[in-house]
Amino acid sequence: MKKILIVNASKRRKGNSYALEQYVIDKIKDKAEVVDFRIGEKGVRVCLGCDACKRKDKPNCVQKDDFTALIPEIDSCDAMLILSPVYWEQFPAQLKAFLDRTYSFMSFSTPDLSMATRKDKKIAGYFFCGVGPVDVYSKMVENNLKSFTISGFTESKAYVAGNVNEPGSVMNNSDYIQVADSMIEWILK
Ligand SMILES: Cc1cc2nc3c(=O)[nH]c(=O)nc-3n(C[C@H](O)[C@H](O)[C@H](O)COP(=O)(O)O)c2cc1C
Repeated sequence: MKKILIVNASKRRKGNSYALEQYVIDKIKDKAEVVDFRIGEKGVRVCLGCDACKRKDKPNCVQKDDFTALIPEIDSCDAMLILSPVYWEQFPAQLKAFLDRTYSFMSFSTPDLSMATRKDKKIAGYFFCGVGPVDVYSKMVENNLKSFTISGFTESKAYVAGNVNEPGSVMNNSDYIQVADSMIEWILK
């Protein structure tokens, strides 16, 4: 069974990320081991930039919080699915903090700059926005997902659903659900 890490970066409990998270879990719970991580309900501190992680040869962090506890799951999963709003044309701050903390996987002594155990993992980002432009936001998400290469996510797919300001409204759009279904299929493959 594949291990799928779902990262929900929204604080809006009736919002789109939460709605799609539930949809995805219902779809895959019998086919995969699911690790569900809601950043907004966890403590993920900002990266200290202290480089203490560079003194070891395994992903690690001196901070003791929910991100550090998640490092083994990030390292060992088959795929990570990020569900998140776009805030001010960018990753919301809580997701940026999560990304920054994956610096704990970076190595200065290996050619590929990574001390991840697995470097064959998939990452999918399904994002939501009120207005757009979705093509610009999609490029932003694609670019940011590339930084997860250091934590071993070498294959990526990104999608931004527009015009979903209304909480949970993604579920009313069959095209958006179809995209989610093919993303699920891809991460399970
Ligand atoms: C702080 C903040 C910033 C936002 N910035 C943008 C933006 O730059 N572009 C946009 O189209 N929508 C923006 N939105 C709207 C959200 O992306 C949109 O409501 C999204 O569906 C929220 O996802 P969620 O329901 O999963 O929380 C913003 C919302 C907030 C609260």
